[in-house]
Amino acid sequence: MNITGNTILITGGATGIGFCLAEALIKHNNTVIICGRRQDKLDEAKSKLPEAHYIQWDVSDRTMAKEMVSKLIAQFPQLNMLINNAGMQYEVDFTQGENDLKGLEELNINLEAPMRLCALFIPHLRTLPSSAIMNVSSGLGFVPLSIMPVYCATKAALHSFSLSLRHQLKNTSIKVFEMIPPIVDTELDRGARDARGMKDRGISPELMAQVTLEGMEKDELEIAHGFSKISLSAAQAAFGEAFKRMNP
Ligand SMILES: NC(=O)c1ccc[n+]([C@@H]2O[C@H](COP(=O)([O-])OP(=O)(O)OC[C@H]3O[C@@H](n4cnc5c(N)ncnc54)[C@H](OP(=O)(O)O)[C@@H]3O)[C@@H](O)[C@H]2O)c1
Repeated sequence: MNITGNTILITGGATGIGFCLAEALIKHNNTVIICGRRQDKLDEAKSKLPEAHYIQWDVSDRTMAKEMVSKLIAQFPQLNMLINNAGMQYEVDFTQGENDLKGLEELNINLEAPMRLCALFIPHLRTLPSSAIMNVSSGLGFVPLSIMPVYCATKAALHSFSLSLRHQLKNTSIKVFEMIPPIVDTELDRGARDARGMKDRGISPELMAQVTLEGMEKDELEIAHGFSKISLSAAQAAFGEAFKRMNP
């Protein structure tokens, strides 16, 4: 994929991996639109990266999605890439029965919203000569960390969805990428790693952004790094053969 001259929406792009990706993509002469919920984070990002466009938008809001996508396409008719990066991560303890339902928010943000945005953007993306969707999953989608069972399940499902989407769109102009990060040093966990005494902060979001751009340029459709590469290949023994059998 040509990594210059695109118009790219990055959901949750005001912080972490999404922000570093936005910075790198702007350096490569792309137009970048960032959305997120917290206005203070959007303002902070804008002060560091004024070249990007910013909108306050909660992608988990089912009622707003159609209108927001139409508005975005009207304002940026060249928008040719959707990066489904927004995500939340919670530890959820199922030994507590039904008291702890915050994991359900993850279902919407990490899985339902990317699916909804794909559905809403694909008719537009198909009209452009070169376009792409990138879903940000996780190495934890391949080998789960049981203290965050819902998070890992959403990422496993997003991987599965990306495989099917790629197959369905194979005769269109839309490439389907999946970014599969290992542990990255961001605020995703909101202090939970520190609270459980975890010393490994992982790789920097800048490195993940760099690896992602290199992968996109080489049309590497599943972009993993470090331990997530090991998790991916562990899950992939003879996968191609089995996928072909199911999808002749
Ligand atoms: N960090 C890691 O170790 C790691 C590893 C594997 C995969 N990932 C994935 O990488 C992606 C980016 O995470 P990150 O590590 O860069 O953490 P991050 O800095 O917390 O980024 C997540 C972003 O998503 C935004 N967001 C969350 N819910 C949203 C919603 N409903 N609508 C719009 N924006 C929303 C957040 O902003 P607001 O709260 O202001 O909306 C935040 O800017 C996530 O999908 C995550 O699961 C991260």
